Amino acid sequence: MWLSFRNHAVLRGITIGVDHGETLCLLGGSGVGKSSILRLILGLILPDNGEVIVEGQDITNVSRENLLKLRQHIGMVFQGSALFDSLTVFDNVAFSLFEHTEMETGEIRQRVDEVLSFVDLDPKKVLTLMPAQLSGGMKKRVAIARAIVHQPKILLFDEPTSGLDPITTRVIDELILKLREELSVCAVVVTHDVQSAARIATETALLRDGKIIFNGTPAEMFECQHEYVRSFLS
Ligand SMILES: Nc1ncnc2c1ncn2[C@@H]1O[C@H](COP(=O)(O)OP(=O)(O)O)[C@@H](O)[C@H]1O
Ligand SMILES: [Mg+2]
Repeated sequence: MWLSFRNHAVLRGITIGVDHGETLCLLGGSGVGKSSILRLILGLILPDNGEVIVEGQDITNVSRENLLKLRQHIGMVFQGSALFDSLTVFDNVAFSLFEHTEMETGEIRQRVDEVLSFVDLDPKKVLTLMPAQLSGGMKKRVAIARAIVHQPKILLFDEPTSGLDPITTRVIDELILKLREELSVCAVVVTHDVQSAARIATETALLRDGKIIFNGTPAEMFECQHEYVRSFLS
């Protein structure tokens, strides 16, 4: 797949894939196009060339209506959490259910309780809080709860642990693992944290200069003798 912005070629012929129950970590320096890959999967931007297959459909070639349907299968955890600052935790998490489903308020409350518990937050304590009242780690958990509330099959994370301390980073990594084990979601995680990738990935891909210079399991990555891979890991 190829992607450029104006005359700047960002992705220059990359092919990657991820199956259900797997977690692909996208690694690479800043500006290599990691976030762009997530935006391609969501169909927010289109490649110059190539296919983006989501749930068996090439989203570069579907109707607007089908694209919106496919997006319902995806949950996204944005960089920096990106909660709605003026909404409570409940309204943040419930947002897509009110927006895209016919669920009754009672059912929505129950579902929000469920996902908050899944991310180890006590619904009774956090439902009415505003994002500004939450710590960085709690914001991240709320963002994850929001991303899984509509039971997506695919989860996208953009730098989920950047800016978090090492202990909170581990907690979030554990949550990402729990999502794979208990909900069997397919996840794509953009990270520059090699240690996180080693913990959570079943597959890793390292990008550089618009190309994938390594694709394999974390164990294979640590064994890889390629000069740039070695320098990236060290
Ligand atoms: N909407 C856009 N318009 C123009 N350039 C963009 C746009 N989005 C990203 N870019 C450029 O594309 C490159 C890759 O960006 P990005 O995918 O955000 O990288 P990463 O997430 O790996 O840091 C960068 O050079 C960035 O400046
Ligand atoms: Mg980015």
